[in-house]
Amino acid sequence: MCGIVGYIGNEKASDVILKGLERLEYRGYDSCGITYYDPKQKTFITNKDRGRVLKLLNSYKYPDDNHFAIGHTRWATHGVANQNNSHPHFSQSQRFVIVHNGVIDNHKELVFKYLNNYEFVSDTDTEVIANLVEEFSHKLSIEEAIRKTISLLEGSFAFLIIDTENIDTLYAVKNKSPLLIGESKNGIVLGSDVLAFINYAESYYLLEDNSFIIIKRNNGDFSFKIMDTIGFELEKPEKHKMDFVTDEIGKAGYEHYMLKEISEQPAVIRKIMSQYMVGNELKVSPKITNMFEGIKKVYILAAGTSYHAGLIGRVYFEEIAKIPAEVFIASEFAYNEPLIEPNSLFVLISQSGETADIRSCLLNVKEHGFKTLTITNVSSSTLAREADNYLNIFAGTEIAVASTKAYVGQIAVLAILANTLSKQHSLDLVSEMSRAAVSMENIIDKRDYISEVVGCSIKSHDCFYIGRGLDYFVCLEAALKLKEITYMNTMGIAAGELKHGTMALIEKDVPVIAIISQEHINNNTRSNLEEAKAREATPLIISLENTSKGNDDIVLMDVHRLLSPLVTVIPAQLIAYYKAVELDYDVDKPRNLAKSATVE
Ligand code: F6R
Repeated sequence: MCGIVGYIGNEKASDVILKGLERLEYRGYDSCGITYYDPKQKTFITNKDRGRVLKLLNSYKYPDDNHFAIGHTRWATHGVANQNNSHPHFSQSQRFVIVHNGVIDNHKELVFKYLNNYEFVSDTDTEVIANLVEEFSHKLSIEEAIRKTISLLEGSFAFLIIDTENIDTLYAVKNKSPLLIGESKNGIVLGSDVLAFINYAESYYLLEDNSFIIIKRNNGDFSFKIMDTIGFELEKPEKHKMDFVTDEIGKAGYEHYMLKEISEQPAVIRKIMSQYMVGNELKVSPKITNMFEGIKKVYILAAGTSYHAGLIGRVYFEEIAKIPAEVFIASEFAYNEPLIEPNSLFVLISQSGETADIRSCLLNVKEHGFKTLTITNVSSSTLAREADNYLNIFAGTEIAVASTKAYVGQIAVLAILANTLSKQHSLDLVSEMSRAAVSMENIIDKRDYISEVVGCSIKSHDCFYIGRGLDYFVCLEAALKLKEITYMNTMGIAAGELKHGTMALIEKDVPVIAIISQEHINNNTRSNLEEAKAREATPLIISLENTSKGNDDIVLMDVHRLLSPLVTVIPAQLIAYYKAVELDYDVDKPRNLAKSATVE
């Protein structure tokens, strides 16, 4: 979702902002903009529009001596994606310029109460913040005006604001939406993600909610102070070294990040194995297992792909660890108030660790005294910091919006967690996971074949994945992958449910793809596929060697029944990828989607 970058320093600020915004592109956006100070013209210049950061870079000239700027990628929430609604936004008199990530829930009430005489030029809630600061600045200092504004805002927000009458100071506020500060001898950079700081910061700081930051240029030096919203100066948080391997964030010769990330999956499994290897077993630490002492039930909360990993995690908790478990879509859990067992523990699964729906659940269950454990790819993320403990999935930065390697990482870590908790350590995970990594590699090596299958068999605008048990959960993920990057109307259906309604949608040439990795339901799923074939659907079967029959289309090297999702998902990811390439869509940045969903 929206990304923000701000800079004050000796470097060419427009470069820092535009490179930073490019690094945040993965979050998803539909418009972008920049405001910088031009010392020759002694004025702030703004360029913004619908479209890509590359356009901002190529369509305008930026003077070499610009050293103060803010920028934004916008994922539309209030108002359509057009130039008017793109950030930065100005206050009515043009004195204050702002970029904002998040949603102000009470913006209408605030306009009604404080800003009746103001004219708004956009549909965004962001302009309200700029105008509130302007309104209060008539009677208060700028710092006080910003603090008063913060005290009135409800919702999630991280914003940067410039007072155009002061070209040496940048103000920043963080509450619920992510914001970090990067530092180097040359200046100070702020951004929604540490990726924005690459090449421009040597170290960075994670900010707590309700922080108000003032960044100043002072005789060639740069400094910042962090205050709470009352105005008390806070101690600086722990300083982290920037230790990014630039390789990790390049495409490494692949045409798209998504294909690179699909191909990295066997390596992710091996990395997880190396990180969780204790002696010759795969285990989580006693700090984590101790959390489960006396726990009668596990609740798993997640969204999207991570929710699909959670469905598999539930099976692991119940079948391997023998702990009853339930999975909820986080945004549903937040509003349905299920009856919670008193001795419960919450597992939050999130690639980014920033998903707002999950965070609101986390705050809620913590308030009720429940233990919380995050499984994430980003150890510096909000969910990792705010839960009692976290487990890292070590998948490396995932840039493509469609999640792939994080999904298999989450499943692998859930398997290790459940197996450590099981009294008998029921699975020989070291050999089973090694085998799964080889099976994954096998199918990735045969990806040209999958591309041919796509060319021959996926020809309609609709597509259905069917499966039972663990296969059904993979079908949900397979369908999500296909719909998010090809915009095809795709569903993952429990195979036995097809006849209970969805069969009405099956017609000539519609692909129905069956995933069959579980021997005990092999024949049942095949019968359901026959029913679809009888309606002239185009059938496709993804099976394992020991469940395959006759001429199954994609047969994968055998793996342990419980680890089959690690492998069966790969052809589905590749089907989505090659179909999107065939349709010439922007594989890594599908329309309307954001990598990190930081609003509820
Ligand atoms: C789909 C996808 C999303 C995310 C969801 C949750 O490919 O990436 O469905 O899984 O937005 O995000 P995280 O895992 O960051 O909480």
